[in-house]
Amino acid sequence: MCGIVGAIAERNVVEILLEGLRRLEYRGYDSAGVALLDGEGNLKRERQVGKVKALSDAIIAKPIKGATGIAHTRWATHGGVNEKNAHPHFSNERIAVVHNGIIENYEALRRDLQAKGYTFGSDTDTETIAHTVHEEVKKGKDLLLAVQDSVKQFHGAYGTVIMDKEDANRVVVARSGSPLVIGLGIGENFIASDQMALLPVTRRFIFLEEGDVAEITRTSVTIYDHNGDKVEREVFDSELEHDAGDKGGYRHYMLKEIHEQPTVVRNTLQGRLGETDLVEGIFGAGSEDILKDIKHVQIIACGTSYHSGMTARYWLEQYANVSCNVEIASEFRYRKSVVHPNSLIVTISQSGETADTLAALRLAKQNGYKSSLTICNVPGSSLVRESDMAFMTLAGAEIGVASTKAFTTQLTAFLMLTLAIGKYNGMLAADKKAIIDGLHSLPTKLEETLTLTNGIEQLAEEFADKQHSLFLGRGDQYPIAMEGALKLKEISYIHAEAYASGELKHGPLALIDEEMPVIVVAPNNELLEKLKSNVEEVRARGGIMYVFADKEAQFASDETMRVINVPHCEAPIAPIVYTLPLQLLSYYVAVIKGTDVDQPRNLAKSVTVE
Ligand code: G6P
Repeated sequence: MCGIVGAIAERNVVEILLEGLRRLEYRGYDSAGVALLDGEGNLKRERQVGKVKALSDAIIAKPIKGATGIAHTRWATHGGVNEKNAHPHFSNERIAVVHNGIIENYEALRRDLQAKGYTFGSDTDTETIAHTVHEEVKKGKDLLLAVQDSVKQFHGAYGTVIMDKEDANRVVVARSGSPLVIGLGIGENFIASDQMALLPVTRRFIFLEEGDVAEITRTSVTIYDHNGDKVEREVFDSELEHDAGDKGGYRHYMLKEIHEQPTVVRNTLQGRLGETDLVEGIFGAGSEDILKDIKHVQIIACGTSYHSGMTARYWLEQYANVSCNVEIASEFRYRKSVVHPNSLIVTISQSGETADTLAALRLAKQNGYKSSLTICNVPGSSLVRESDMAFMTLAGAEIGVASTKAFTTQLTAFLMLTLAIGKYNGMLAADKKAIIDGLHSLPTKLEETLTLTNGIEQLAEEFADKQHSLFLGRGDQYPIAMEGALKLKEISYIHAEAYASGELKHGPLALIDEEMPVIVVAPNNELLEKLKSNVEEVRARGGIMYVFADKEAQFASDETMRVINVPHCEAPIAPIVYTLPLQLLSYYVAVIKGTDVDQPRNLAKSVTVE
């Protein structure tokens, strides 16, 4: 989704801003722009629809420069995709603004500002920020006070950076609902919506908190909280790799990230799983005291993270003997729900910034949950800061919009949570052993599964001309079928539905014909015989099936069924292992179709508006 980069320095910052935007491209966007203040009181802007490359080419053709600047990648919410709606937005060629989020009362603000004589050059909500701030500076306020007084008038979400042509020595930033991070340099400072953007110039960051407004000069950062009181915020050293943005020889980030899974799952287990038990306290100081009393788990997430929560429900109820509900964050946050006694709220998020998940956590905290835990991949993100306990997945930066390695590390984390809660709820010794042995073998099993690549690449040829597909699974493989369907639709644009195969007779059988490939996930578990009956139901109606199966499940390829044998593994880790062939299938179908694999149309990596 939208990305922000800003800089205030003595040198020309145009390349820093453009490189920052390139590093945010993975988030998904449709246009890009930059505005710069030079030392001679000039405010210059360049905006382009399309990729950052188009913006940098335009700047090469018609150079602009400056030591103070702001830049943006826009993912359209209000107003179509065109140059006039791209950020930065100006007011009276004096105030320049970039903004992530949505100003919900923009229509009322727009009417008031028009009545005061302002003309709008765009259809965006963002332009109201520029004119509101202009209206305040016109009253004689400095930029900081003007922004502090302006944000009081905004409803909705914003991460915004504002420059004033009359005062090139500072930028003012404000955060409410959309993340912003300040990057600290020596004699220069930076701002971004995501630390990834700034890794080439600094590793020292301050994460702004809700309601913060900050004044940033070349040599100082002064932060005020929502009451206007000066506050100190902690400085973090980023552990993210500077080169996390490289494809490392792979054709796409997504393929690189699929192949990183054995390593990042190993990293996520390291130091947390001992030979025969979990290491104590891996969910944070004091976590054992909390987890021992937990009798119910409420999981909240969106997208792929929601599917990892769906899988965890099977594990928590089957192995840890605690009841568990899972809900999509955007639903949970807008309905009244009943809080069970001794309930733990668990949020899952790759980014830690998904607007609905964050709002759901805040709501839950008011509603009497015993404690909150987030399973998250980004240190210092909003969910991590606002949860009582945080478990960091160590997937590293995930660039491909379609989530892969974040998902499998989330599942790895959930198996450890199952052990941690099951310990106090009569978990069977045999189940504990199967989970622990399974987790120890997991990185190797994932490596073995990746050797299926060539066969899956060939299989993908048969999907490329299809319009629809059906994914089937049972038990803890049902959410894996859902995730497989999500991957296929996200990057290949083929309509894909997932069903728990026991539901076939209740509708989807009507869809079966030779134009509707059916993908079946079939490990060798207690539901295998039931699943085989479902397979026969599809076969009897002329369906063409692609079955990912354990060798011992004894499926054989024939004219209506292609079987791909997946390495045998312990039952609890099977959902993680079976995820990989489905990721590979989607990837190769998308490559054959020639879609934009890493940045699929209309989608964003980090959904920071609801
Ligand atoms: C977007 C991304 C998905 C992701 C979802 C939830 O839709 O494209 O890949 O699963 O957001 O994001 P989160 O960061 O909370 O896991």
